[in-house]
Amino acid sequence: MLKLLSKIFVLLLPLALALSSCGDQVSSTPQTPTDQTMKHHDTPHIKQEKFGSVDGQDIIQYTLSNPAGMEVKIINYGGTLTSIMVPDSAGRWGDVLLGFDSLQGYLQKENPYIGCLVGRYANRIANGKFTVNGKVYQLPLNNNGNSLHGGQKGFSRVVWTAKPLPETNSVQLNYHSKDGEEGYPGSLNVQVVYTVTNVNELKIEYLATTDKGTPVNLTNHAYFNLSAGKDSTVLGHTLTVNADHFTVVNDKQIPTGALDSVKGTPMDFNQPLAIKTNIDKVPGGYDHNWALRKSTPGEPELAATLYHQGTGRRLEVFTTEPGIQVYTGNFLDGSLTGKYGRKYVKHSGICLETQHFPDSPNHPSFPSTLLRPGEKYRQTTIYKFSTR
Ligand code: BGC
Repeated sequence: MLKLLSKIFVLLLPLALALSSCGDQVSSTPQTPTDQTMKHHDTPHIKQEKFGSVDGQDIIQYTLSNPAGMEVKIINYGGTLTSIMVPDSAGRWGDVLLGFDSLQGYLQKENPYIGCLVGRYANRIANGKFTVNGKVYQLPLNNNGNSLHGGQKGFSRVVWTAKPLPETNSVQLNYHSKDGEEGYPGSLNVQVVYTVTNVNELKIEYLATTDKGTPVNLTNHAYFNLSAGKDSTVLGHTLTVNADHFTVVNDKQIPTGALDSVKGTPMDFNQPLAIKTNIDKVPGGYDHNWALRKSTPGEPELAATLYHQGTGRRLEVFTTEPGIQVYTGNFLDGSLTGKYGRKYVKHSGICLETQHFPDSPNHPSFPSTLLRPGEKYRQTTIYKFSTR
């Protein structure tokens, strides 16, 4: 009997140890530097701390880090990225993400989607209307008579279920969007996995399945400023976009269906170009979708590069998506104060939103965003940080 019990104990011990290191519980015990170093050699430690609560649900901030010291913070409210710490070319660390000090900042209604996940349909759907299987669906209109970023709450203002995955240095987020939620057909199960790799990448993997045909277009709305506070705007940053065409839009930023060549226009970022160079020639500033040059569909390929000369920080964006919405924070007007007491003035940050084209459900010539039962929506985007 004793023999049997000790056998069971030996068998169960590794399982108990694995579960205890899974970190499903909120741990507030600070790690000593030795702990950190040791943990990095085997399973990374994912710090968890309470960030606040929404409707009685705890909001937890997770910190993913790598042996090089890169640190990414994520909260389960909106699956929001709250901080990305990366070094400059002299090894000085800085936070390259716009964000707020507390949950209140993210909850305020003026929060312009800072750092959050966006869905069920990122970007605009004209008149909030589309047809699936002959049935017309009407979404609530929240942007100049159109639907923007999935509706009133979308996936940005909801609480996601979060699970740390120390084995892969990831945080997995899940959200169940009900049939009819925000006007969309079908109940949609969404999973987003944020991973920090040892080569200073933040990888975002999206997965979704549905039980009825529905448009799906997911992205993240991080605002970057690689100067980490040195420059109040990104106008001096250099941008490269791997695209020959962009989607032409009307005065309400709805695609006409046409794809125009970037050649000879302020939209040509095939060679690295300071954002300020031509921004004045673009009414309102950059807030457009570029059609990316792709060679291997389904593989993450280089879409854009952002560079800040003053600090030497560089961000390369790789994606499986056919498009990227480059938004230069044109609607920021200095009325919001973010982390480190910084005022978010016009062009304080730039969003590099990898996605399908806006209003695809109403443009059969655009790559399809329709997800059917039995199919899997997948998208992968990698934000890779380095210095030069
Ligand atoms: C859109 C902008 C919009 C902003 C909201 C961007 O993705 O393209 O037009 O104002 O999101 O923060």
